[in-house]
Amino acid sequence: MNSTWWHDKVAYQIYPKSFYDSNGDGIGDIPGIIARLDYLKDLGVDIVWLSPVYRSPLADQGYDISDYYNIDPRFGTMEDMDRLLAEAKKRDMYIVMDLVVNHCSDEHAWFKKACEDPEGQYGQYFYLRRLKKAAAPEGTAYAVTSPDGYVLPCNWRSYFGGPVWEKLPGHEDWYYLHVFHKKQPDLNWENPRVREEIYTMINWWLDRGLAGFRIDAIINIKKALPFRNYAPDRADGLCSIHTMLREASGVGEFLGEMRDRTFAPHNAFTVGEVFGEKEEELPDFIGKNGYFSTMFDFSEAIWGSSPAGWHANQGITPDAYRSCLFSAQKKFNAVGFISNIIENHDEPRGATRYIPAADRKQMDERMLTTAKKALATVYFLAKGLPWIYQGQEIGMENLPLHSIDEVDDVSSIDAWNVMRELGVSEADALRAIERNGRDNARTPFQWSAAENAGFTTGSPWLRVNPDYSQINLDRQQPDPDSVYNHYKKLIALRKDPQYRDPLVRGSFEPWLEDEHNVIAYLRRSEVPTSQTILVISNYQLQPRVLPLPAPARRVLLNNCTKPVIQPGKRQVSLGGYQTLVLELDM
Ligand code: GLC
Repeated sequence: MNSTWWHDKVAYQIYPKSFYDSNGDGIGDIPGIIARLDYLKDLGVDIVWLSPVYRSPLADQGYDISDYYNIDPRFGTMEDMDRLLAEAKKRDMYIVMDLVVNHCSDEHAWFKKACEDPEGQYGQYFYLRRLKKAAAPEGTAYAVTSPDGYVLPCNWRSYFGGPVWEKLPGHEDWYYLHVFHKKQPDLNWENPRVREEIYTMINWWLDRGLAGFRIDAIINIKKALPFRNYAPDRADGLCSIHTMLREASGVGEFLGEMRDRTFAPHNAFTVGEVFGEKEEELPDFIGKNGYFSTMFDFSEAIWGSSPAGWHANQGITPDAYRSCLFSAQKKFNAVGFISNIIENHDEPRGATRYIPAADRKQMDERMLTTAKKALATVYFLAKGLPWIYQGQEIGMENLPLHSIDEVDDVSSIDAWNVMRELGVSEADALRAIERNGRDNARTPFQWSAAENAGFTTGSPWLRVNPDYSQINLDRQQPDPDSVYNHYKKLIALRKDPQYRDPLVRGSFEPWLEDEHNVIAYLRRSEVPTSQTILVISNYQLQPRVLPLPAPARRVLLNNCTKPVIQPGKRQVSLGGYQTLVLELDM
């Protein structure tokens, strides 16, 4: 997808359930999004991705779709959706929906029909197998059986825990495959009819005026077949899905076909949720005529994660963060235009994760605000499409937990079980969920200091973060030094015609790459004129003096009030977490 109309845009992810509730039922909705479109427009947002609002039992918060052609009543109606598309268009904004087609819901009509007749047409829409109780054939290593003795076709562990095989409702010896939750049966992409159904549905939405899609969990659509067992990696006798995915080849055939049949004829914008891609395949994904317009860089997000369990995940240091950011830039810029994030609905809050806990302990509110603005600056001005996840623009933080009963997220609950079985104490397991869990980013948006942070007049579906009286939009909007106003300035700067060439299309070159706790890089353009911008962050509490590659001509952005540059000097003196965007004389 080589169209580049979106390169100079700014994108924003909405998690509808927690954005804004217009009708007091405690759940955010589409009319709530419409009511806040002007807020997003004023912030400078162009492209808005909605996490799923399709009809769904919400077992995985809408990533389990029971009807692709309808809106879940909790989020609104199809008329609301059409109104959102029209209101966005009026404001020159683009709506992108989630495309969840690795699996559907077990409440989808296809799956219900498959249950009625596993050997019929709809049985072929899924991965169904009729199993035997007999012992596994000789020579079958690592075989796993169900609790009632059926030998499973393979020993893969689902992402949310337990084997990927579940008994087909209404049957004794039929089983179906789900790589995520058991309420998310995998669709059989090997079946051309399934692919046709999916392409028809995508085109139906694009014809309605949608700008494109965020493509969910897409690598999983290609399974290594025939099913087989791999060496187990935990005491449960199962193996990670990633082990199977490394062996699966040929996903590109499906993705290329999907592009040609749907996205390309509509010139749609697409962003892939792609994990574990093989480096040599990158040009196929986001190069000229790639499967997608762009894809997310998850290198920081997955850094330090341990296969043993969440308790063993490492906290990321500023140097490690920089090394992820820079290596992703090196890898992707040669090929295409990457999508940069510091958080999303599956990750902890960036402001908590990427500012070291030891530093935070010593920070007052003002310094913490400075550090959040530092983080915002360094990721936002790297090359690629910058994405803001709802609430990030006001520096929302992780949610403190008191008990596992407060947790909603299915993957956190699985992580809890894994840790507890390993003997990790309740207190340590809870702390690990606090650091890694998906609920962190899913708490309601903090609009104001009013009850429930102004998100709902009812009872919110998920706890509001108790810090809302401090961290909320109402408080930050009038404050020129707030995190919110810093994001606004960053967006305005990236869109400023005077700096757009270097900041959007210019090259990315590391500066002081080996300096401890410094995150700095140049953005440089040669055409139409030669321009060099330096982003430089003293990502630590201690002040220091750092060299510049050339004297600074102008300060474009400063996250502190402290003045900085001295004309003609090739150095700059920076306070704790002070971060500058400088136009250089070179
Ligand atoms: C993606 C989504 C996540 C969901 C999963 C299954 O990773 O971002 O929220 O649970 O896919 O659809």
